[in-house]
Amino acid sequence: MTLEELNNRMLKCKKCKLHKTRINIVCGSGKNEADIMFIGEAPGKNEDEAGLPFIGTAGKILDELLLSIGVKRSDVYIANVVKCRPPKNRDPLPEEVDSCREWLDLQVEIIKPKMIVLLGRHSMARFLPNRKISIDHGKPKRLEGQVYYPVYHPAATVYRKQVLEDLKKDFLKIPKILEKIDEVN
Ligand code: URA
Repeated sequence: MTLEELNNRMLKCKKCKLHKTRINIVCGSGKNEADIMFIGEAPGKNEDEAGLPFIGTAGKILDELLLSIGVKRSDVYIANVVKCRPPKNRDPLPEEVDSCREWLDLQVEIIKPKMIVLLGRHSMARFLPNRKISIDHGKPKRLEGQVYYPVYHPAATVYRKQVLEDLKKDFLKIPKILEKIDEVN
C-alpha cells in the first residue's frame, strides 16, 4: 500500500466518535520515505481546520527546532497518534488511541523511518509505555528494530523555560543519533 492509498482509507474513518466533531482528518504530511518521523499527540483547532499537522503555536516551535538542526519539513514526516481533534483539545481517550492504532502502525510500516521522534508523553506512551518523559526525554531507544527518541512536546515549552532548553538540547542531538543509528540499542 502507498501512503496515498492509506490516506484515502483513513479519510473515510469512522472508528471512534471523534469523526462526529472533526472538520478534517489530519493524516500527516511530509516526505513519503523520510528518515525521521515526528509523532505528536492529536490535532488542535488550527490543524482540524486546515487538515495539516502542527501548524499552530506548537507547529511554530517545531519549525524553529527543525531550523536549528537544518532540517526542512519537506524532508521529514509529521503525524499524530490520533488523527482527529479531541473536542476542546482534551487528552485523547484510550479508545481513541486504539481506534487510530492501525493507521499509525501502517504509516510507520510504509514510511520506514530510521528514527521516530516521539513528541510528548502521549506519543511516548503509545510506543514506549511505562516511562516518564521527564526522565526519558533525549534518550534514544531501540525496540524491535525501531529507534524511538522521546522529547518534550513543543506545546509543553510555553511558559516553561527549562523544558524549552531541554527540548532544544534534545533536538540538537538528532543529527548525531541519525548518523550513528546502528549503534542505538
Ligand atoms: N499538537 C499535536 O500534538 N499535534 C498537532 O498536530 C498540533 C498540536
